[in-house]
Amino acid sequence: MSRAWKSPTLLAQCQLMASAAKLNSHIPLMANILIIYSTTDGHTVEICRRLIQVLEPSGHQVKLIDVNDASGLDLMPFDKIVIGASIRYGKHSPQIVKFISQHERLLDSKPNAFFSVNVVARKPEKNQPATNPYLKKFLKKIAWKPKELAVFAGKIDYPRYNPFDRFMIRLIMWITKGPTDPTTVIEFTDWQKVEDFGRLIGKM
Ligand SMILES: Cc1cc2nc3c(=O)[nH]c(=O)nc-3n(C[C@H](O)[C@H](O)[C@H](O)COP(=O)(O)O)c2cc1C
Repeated sequence: MSRAWKSPTLLAQCQLMASAAKLNSHIPLMANILIIYSTTDGHTVEICRRLIQVLEPSGHQVKLIDVNDASGLDLMPFDKIVIGASIRYGKHSPQIVKFISQHERLLDSKPNAFFSVNVVARKPEKNQPATNPYLKKFLKKIAWKPKELAVFAGKIDYPRYNPFDRFMIRLIMWITKGPTDPTTVIEFTDWQKVEDFGRLIGKM
């Protein structure tokens, strides 16, 4: 052993570094995270942005990609993959279903999560993965078993919709005792729940 290695200061420094590494071993490493989303009116991407606001300050790197721009994307470099999609007339977008079936094996090989956005989830009895009818049905339809799941209540923006969609959503809201005033813009999203999910993604 060279003289330098016998130096008491150097030995002490090494011991200090070793114990610091031990102490930090429970802290998750920063990860390269991919979030793929499908949206029609932009609310799902708003939710993704809130997830990023939680993840990036903790040191994670996040790439956000619309499922329509994801063909040919190499998923291998990402440490974790999150997929989020909204419901329109009872279904998640066919592009999301296709993306999942194309990448099912790779998704399974990494920490992964899925979240659904819909207005039925504004009801407390339907806002959990185990109680939301759309998510339950979706999980039966796909072979992928996401490791983490979430359901978020979405947004109603009547002035933005075309007359047919506005009529249909008002009808659905009338049946389900929601807001029917055609000037209503209302966000049912529980942003605290979104942030909690962001922290869970950071740790998974
Ligand atoms: C045309 C249309 C159809 C919708 N259909 C449903 C539905 O069947 N069930 C539901 O819970 N929410 C439904 N929603 C509500 C959306 O899921 C909600 O507005 C969500 O925030 C949309 O997210 P996005 O902007 O990312 O697409 C519908 C909304 C629109 C505009």
